[in-house]
Amino acid sequence: MTEKDAAARIATLTEEINYYNQKYYDEDTSEITDFEFDQLLQELIDLESEFPNLKKGSSPTQRVGGTITKSFATVVHQRPMLSLGNTYSEKDLKDFDARIAKTLGDEPYAYFCELKFDGVAISLKYEDGELVQGVTRGDGVRGDDVTNNVRTIRTVPLQAKDPLEGEFEVRGEVYLSKRSFLKLNEDRSNAGEILYANARNTASGTLKMQDSSIVASRKLDCYVYSLLGNNIPPTHSDSIKRLEKMGFNVSQTYAICESIEDVLDYINTWEEKRHTLDVETDGIVIKVNSHEQQDRLGYTAKSPRWAIAYKYKAENVATKLKGITYQVGRTGAITPVAELEPVLLSGTTVKRASLHNANEIARLDVRIGDTVLVEKGGEIIPKITGVVLSERPVNSQPTEYISECPECGTALVRLEGEAAHYCPNKTGCAPQIKGRIEHFIHRKAMDIDSLGEKTIAQLYNEGLVKSPADLYDLTKEDALGLDGFKELSASNLIKGIEQSKEASFESVLFALGIRHVGKTVAEKLAQHFRTMDALEHASYEDLIEVDTIGDQIALSVKGYFDDPESQKEIARLKSVGLSFEIEAQDAPVSDTLSGKSFVISGVFENHSRDELKEMIKAHGGKVNSSISAKLDFLLAGDKMGPAKREKAEKLGIPILTENEFENMLAGTDQ
Ligand code: IVH
Repeated sequence: MTEKDAAARIATLTEEINYYNQKYYDEDTSEITDFEFDQLLQELIDLESEFPNLKKGSSPTQRVGGTITKSFATVVHQRPMLSLGNTYSEKDLKDFDARIAKTLGDEPYAYFCELKFDGVAISLKYEDGELVQGVTRGDGVRGDDVTNNVRTIRTVPLQAKDPLEGEFEVRGEVYLSKRSFLKLNEDRSNAGEILYANARNTASGTLKMQDSSIVASRKLDCYVYSLLGNNIPPTHSDSIKRLEKMGFNVSQTYAICESIEDVLDYINTWEEKRHTLDVETDGIVIKVNSHEQQDRLGYTAKSPRWAIAYKYKAENVATKLKGITYQVGRTGAITPVAELEPVLLSGTTVKRASLHNANEIARLDVRIGDTVLVEKGGEIIPKITGVVLSERPVNSQPTEYISECPECGTALVRLEGEAAHYCPNKTGCAPQIKGRIEHFIHRKAMDIDSLGEKTIAQLYNEGLVKSPADLYDLTKEDALGLDGFKELSASNLIKGIEQSKEASFESVLFALGIRHVGKTVAEKLAQHFRTMDALEHASYEDLIEVDTIGDQIALSVKGYFDDPESQKEIARLKSVGLSFEIEAQDAPVSDTLSGKSFVISGVFENHSRDELKEMIKAHGGKVNSSISAKLDFLLAGDKMGPAKREKAEKLGIPILTENEFENMLAGTDQ
């Protein structure tokens, strides 16, 4: 393909993909199948790698990530990113208003009020409407160039619509919605990983990840609140409207207030209502609306004189720390928990709060008997924010972190680079064993709903079940011996366990509870290795070959299968008949097409393109999206573009009709 042809094809593909993306994300409809969409995207990826100088920063391929940034370049901000003066009091707001009135003399002025989003500030640079750079706030003067990660944020336009001419800068807040944060933690919990404490820090950490495809999977969001450049509208409210017209994500929660009293009303209106939004907010930002007046009001060294932030008080109460207990999770991770004198906070009684890990206890220097401050901010679990030192009992002793497991007495270990302590006694520590079985029966794993936490505890206490494999040895008589079990419930229990043998290989793999292997990773591993046997024997190198599997997951999987205890368990699960390979229809039926690559193009009589793709894969072949010299066959249907045929002919690639392809597979079990 000539560079000119490639440029034309890239333009067409870009337009088509953007169109389908918009349909999908804005209108929730899709006019083509996922397979067809993936083919278009893959063709664009291939063309961009063949013609790197035609690759644009605004290409839709940038949304899916894939670039790895080893270290982020430092960028000096064109205009420093200042911070805002903060206040918690009405009086300060009135003083702020009085200062504005004084500087502006008798002139009328208005305020623009918006919510203060709790995320991380970002500066986005555009040239002729194209996103060219995304930089974190850093120290306000210089930040990190995180462009590749920013490009994965769907609500940041890669190409602005009807943009301002030349260069302009947009600033806003990158955040993780409450929903995405909960979902992320749910996935982490399923994978046996430590949960993230709050959405803000997670958003900030995500924005600085090296692998942009992980960033893409986290679903960051961005609200913009400022437009800077030479030709910007005269007021902030017009800028916000202009930003919206250019396709930026603007929160609809703003208001123009004609007086400071109106501002106070706005603050009251949002104090409770803000909790119903899907984004964490911690206050209100109040800005003088006219840009010309803003210029006259000017700046102090740190912040603008024309704006101020009013912060809502995070509800905070003092109570006594009665003790610290230590919980052991299914992976052996220890979580210290503060046992509190019960206290009412934001409408609920709080008795416990997480202390996270040994570092947090040391940082707070929190001691039993202390009066501590408990806060419910963005976090779901209340946290301890400080100690009232003036009330510390005279004889108080520094907290000594435990060195042995509170459940089984085994010496704890701390892995390099991790904050948590672990109990290494996997097979002899009760909460780890029970936790593993609970995970095994989970809806997304083996889905045994006739079993619950209580029954598992009983089965364990009675010595009937010590590992998931023991479940399959249970008899109805065993079940009848349990508290509250009668004829029907006992036979249902056994039936539920029996039925779980139908669960797919992916589910079995997830059910094993290998650290860092959540449902998505389990699916990826199953797709790639296809059988438990292949996975068991995979080397570290084989594992990191798999798309999205990195160092941490590879080591964890390898460690799991190298452990003789796991090997024993796997052998038992195999012998009771769990699925140890991917569903028959997905597994290769034959290897007739092994090593052969195909491009499918046009419309076919007997099969859809999806079906043909599945058939090729089922017989060991591969489907490519673009024609290259290395291709083995072009499978051509009706209405195939003449350019494709020409290219295949030029490269001497055999062109197959649907019939010829079917004949190739004749004799194999199609
Ligand atoms: S305007 C001069 N508007 O709050 C700074 N900031 O302390 C003008 N923030 O770094 C910023 N929501 O990260 C503005 N609606 C909003 C905001 C907002 C959150 C953050 C931003 C900034 C910090 C200022």
